[in-house]
Amino acid sequence: MEKWIITREGYEPEEYTDNGNRFLIGNGLIGVRGTLEEYTADKMVAINLAGIYDKAPGQTWREPINAPNAFFAKLENQSSILSHKQSLNIAFGLHSRETDYENATLRIERFCSMAEPNILCQKISITPKGKPVTLICGIDSEIWDINGTHLTDFKTSVTDTLRVSALTSEQRIPITVTERCNRTADEVREIRSSLFRVFNVKEKLVLERIIAINSELTPGSYDEKLSAHKKIWERLWENSEVKIKGDDKAALSLRYSLYHLHSIAPRHADSLSIPARGLSGQTYKGAIFWDTEVFLMPFFTLTEPAVARKFIKYRINTLGGAREKAAEYGFDGAFFAWESQDGGVDGCTDFNVVDVFTNRPVRTYFRDKQIHISGDIVYALGKYIDWTGDKNILENGGDELIRACADFYRSRAYSRPGSDKLEFTDVVGPDEYHERVYNNAFTNRIAAYALEKAGYDCKVREPIFKDGIVEQFDGYFNLEDVSLAEVRSRLKHPREYWGTQSGVAFSTQIIKQADVIALMHLFQDDFTDDIVKNNWEYYEPRTEHGSSLSACMYALTACRFGKPDLAYPLFMKSARSDLDGGGKSWAGNVYIGGTHPAAAGGAYMIATQGFAGLSLQDGQPVLKPSLPEQIESIKFPLIFRGKHMHVNVTHDKAEITQN
Ligand code: BGC
Repeated sequence: MEKWIITREGYEPEEYTDNGNRFLIGNGLIGVRGTLEEYTADKMVAINLAGIYDKAPGQTWREPINAPNAFFAKLENQSSILSHKQSLNIAFGLHSRETDYENATLRIERFCSMAEPNILCQKISITPKGKPVTLICGIDSEIWDINGTHLTDFKTSVTDTLRVSALTSEQRIPITVTERCNRTADEVREIRSSLFRVFNVKEKLVLERIIAINSELTPGSYDEKLSAHKKIWERLWENSEVKIKGDDKAALSLRYSLYHLHSIAPRHADSLSIPARGLSGQTYKGAIFWDTEVFLMPFFTLTEPAVARKFIKYRINTLGGAREKAAEYGFDGAFFAWESQDGGVDGCTDFNVVDVFTNRPVRTYFRDKQIHISGDIVYALGKYIDWTGDKNILENGGDELIRACADFYRSRAYSRPGSDKLEFTDVVGPDEYHERVYNNAFTNRIAAYALEKAGYDCKVREPIFKDGIVEQFDGYFNLEDVSLAEVRSRLKHPREYWGTQSGVAFSTQIIKQADVIALMHLFQDDFTDDIVKNNWEYYEPRTEHGSSLSACMYALTACRFGKPDLAYPLFMKSARSDLDGGGKSWAGNVYIGGTHPAAAGGAYMIATQGFAGLSLQDGQPVLKPSLPEQIESIKFPLIFRGKHMHVNVTHDKAEITQN
């Protein structure tokens, strides 16, 4: 039997960070961390809103907004806990908790409606075991904010519904939360700006609460809303489920990854993208990185091209911001934000890391030098068109975007006297531990791609090979060649940042994440399998995998040279990153925890492009499987140029059929 339910037994309040990610529910507009209903701000409770950014007073950056917590519920005077279980049904994003207290049993379910993105639903069942108990539920306005308080000017109103409204502090954007409950409370309590219904419960009571965020409430019962919600999820799985046979753990882990991707897809919007930490909170400023273009696009392009199109449109609609950024640095065209927020404004600051020893901001060069971002976007657009055939997007801003990115690269490039080759000096490649390098091979290639797509007749300097190994950037091989363990042992603080000029990795060949290997995956035709293998063997031991974006690139390339056994643990690492938890949560003193959509998207890429070996050749989908032994077969649907197809790969056959 396929497993669709994730469960943890035992009350574990100290696990609030990982469980908050592990049990997240969402519908693309709203993400709700998997914290328990009685938790408050200190346990990172968040009803996180997509696409709204605001700066808290005295802060240097904008970040997304958390709405007041309308899912708050608590048994007053809690007695001791006899048993507790928290679960998530990933078939349709239903979070539930069941707690057996000495004096009552409490069961709560909740979901974010896929059918009505502004609507959240909760069902509470409480059964006293003898004496009456008191249940409190309502809208808690004391919410988690990582960098200062965002909401101000609170107003409350109590009619047959409860309503809490507030304004964001910088831009005064209204945020409203309205709740209706199927039962009248014995009392409504207002504590500061929070509103709570209080029920004196003598016998089993079932409460159904419908909540609207930034919209009016809509009619319908909990069950009606649940059934409309489930129908949408069913359709999503029909077009996307990857069935792995022979390895239940791998199957569940991948299903879990796809669950996350579905939960954060901005279906409600015409043009929007997915933040690096999904809708799991304010980390990474809720910003959009290259993660979308390189790690999330393949899943949506193949299963829900309408969503992939929204990502591209988001970039087209934020071209203005990208042009301003290019102009700010004295270049032509479009230099996209490294951490893109609304309007394409770059949320990345010049001092994006805080030193753990001095607590002083450290100068980082992600914003001004990580120029591969513009090429990544052109690359994603190119692949999107190859798979969907949607050339129409070119007339609707796509062509302009490509040209603007190419203009940027042309003006940013340098050529040595007497040479006709363009070079890119002073850049940061995907490996962020080595800043301000020259001719990062990945950056050069992605820039060449953009220039070529724009039809510009110019040549970019190709990668330099030494003994068959691509040099990540000029001078990389001259850096200290030392083991990862040795570099790690040089750390003086567990949260110390490895990059920047004084970081432990900077003067060594130890890299943060796939860089040359990412290049080899994106530009497969440029490299033979043998070259990929040799480079893998060189770079993998030198890679910290300090970013969740790294493992999948190594897994994909290992499949390519016929070593799926090397890919398998990296696949599991990607697919289980939010299920297992742990992971890096600090960059210096800056908290960067949350969910990892790019790892989830990477897991999908490994299963489909790695294990099943799906790619396009001469404009047609083909398979070159590289299945690990544990896996008997992989089956999945895909949409190619509007046609629904089905892939079926086993150890002795591989076929693509049209439905
Ligand atoms: C990685 C970037 C990535 C960002 C957001 C960083 O740690 O180095 O490549 O885009 O996280 O996921």
